[in-house]
Amino acid sequence: MTEDLRTRRDRALGAGAPLFYNEPIELVRGEGVHLYDPHGRRYVDLYNNVPCVGHANPRVVEAMTRQQATLNVHSRYLHEGIVELAERLAGLHPAGPNPDSPNPDGTGPPIESVIFSCSGTEAVEVALAMARVATGRRGIVATDATYHGNSEAVHALTRAATDPAAHPEIRTIPFPRQFRPIEPGASPTALAAAHLRHLEEAIASLRDTGPGLAAVIFCSILANEGLPDIPPGFMPAAAAMVREAGGLVIADEVQAGYGRTGRWWGYQVSGFEPDIVVTGKPMGNGLPLSATAARRELVERFRRAYRHFNTFAASPLQAAVGLAVIDEIEQRDLLSQVASVGTGLKQALTERMVGRPWMGDVRGHGLFLGIEAVDGGPDPVPDRDRAVDVANRLKDKGFLVSNAGADGNVVKIRPPLVFGHDDAREFLAAFDEVLAETDGG
Ligand SMILES: Cc1ncc(COP(=O)(O)O)c(C=O)c1O
Repeated sequence: MTEDLRTRRDRALGAGAPLFYNEPIELVRGEGVHLYDPHGRRYVDLYNNVPCVGHANPRVVEAMTRQQATLNVHSRYLHEGIVELAERLAGLHPAGPNPDSPNPDGTGPPIESVIFSCSGTEAVEVALAMARVATGRRGIVATDATYHGNSEAVHALTRAATDPAAHPEIRTIPFPRQFRPIEPGASPTALAAAHLRHLEEAIASLRDTGPGLAAVIFCSILANEGLPDIPPGFMPAAAAMVREAGGLVIADEVQAGYGRTGRWWGYQVSGFEPDIVVTGKPMGNGLPLSATAARRELVERFRRAYRHFNTFAASPLQAAVGLAVIDEIEQRDLLSQVASVGTGLKQALTERMVGRPWMGDVRGHGLFLGIEAVDGGPDPVPDRDRAVDVANRLKDKGFLVSNAGADGNVVKIRPPLVFGHDDAREFLAAFDEVLAETDGG
């Protein structure tokens, strides 16, 4: 990016609009897993989950142009496309007898009806309102390092961790994790129990102070928390505890869903069953498209209470693009590809931990992996600078990753789902060069 463009950007957008990397890059074109700068330099994209079926995916581009050239109108007319997209989306959740179900009765989550929106934030707003309408209570429990969106109500879930007094309807609990745990030395089972006690206290506190419990909201794989390995059993037990207290379970699948983990849904990997599912980012491969899905009865109670309408949502354009994305994932069997490429990449990164104490933990699912950078001591301290340095060095070599997590010290690897074995090999060669440069440093 030229200095001139940065200066103009600061003036046009206001300084402070975030940019990646010490030396930001300017991009002009994308294709598949590749991005290009104005000089034709190619970058391999290991960051972007929105273009899940690849940048400038031909099927999506064709569906988008065809639909926009035919009809695009708001949702208060009958149109086949959006009904089909809602049906397809609901059908992607395991319904009825489900061999994967952690529930003793073996049923899957009955996701029947869908409310479309344009951003993850809006879809989370709908989910919170839906839970509040259904329960008649206001309280929401989230983790202490989460991010669910940027509206005032949704961002309060993030801010409540730092200023609980300002958010009496929200309780945050320590995000469940096994690396750098809240009780050092505790077994995974004891850790799950410790985190469940925090949840129990949060629910009791909401009850005793007035708001009561409407819902818990979790990103199904705790992406923004840094993809921690969740103590086994925590998620299903937490969901059961919430339901026992009369609350609903909201799975935020904005990052976790749509094949990211090698399964359609992150909750299938984490082993719990939601009442309400929020999806966003990858749904439109770049076209703003998000959804809140739940049992028909929950959706209809919300519709009655709110008379909800969203101008740009549930449009023929969203439908055409949303269907093309699902077709592409299914017909290219991307879930299998994600599982196999992701497993190989995780294994290769795990092998590189040997003799490198800064690589405290390698974890994640499918094509969403994290390397937690630490100081290498016996009681590991987060090393954000290292994660940032690795991301910048990889960028200089033409590979785009970022840093994330509660302490910003997790190297975040989250390529489009079409990222293949050859791409992974290319990335690992660059990662090895970074290791060679920094080993001993
Ligand atoms: C887990 C999660 N939920 C919700 C959102 C909000 O989505 P949007 O930026 O489309 O509003 C994000 C955005 O990063 C997210 O990571």
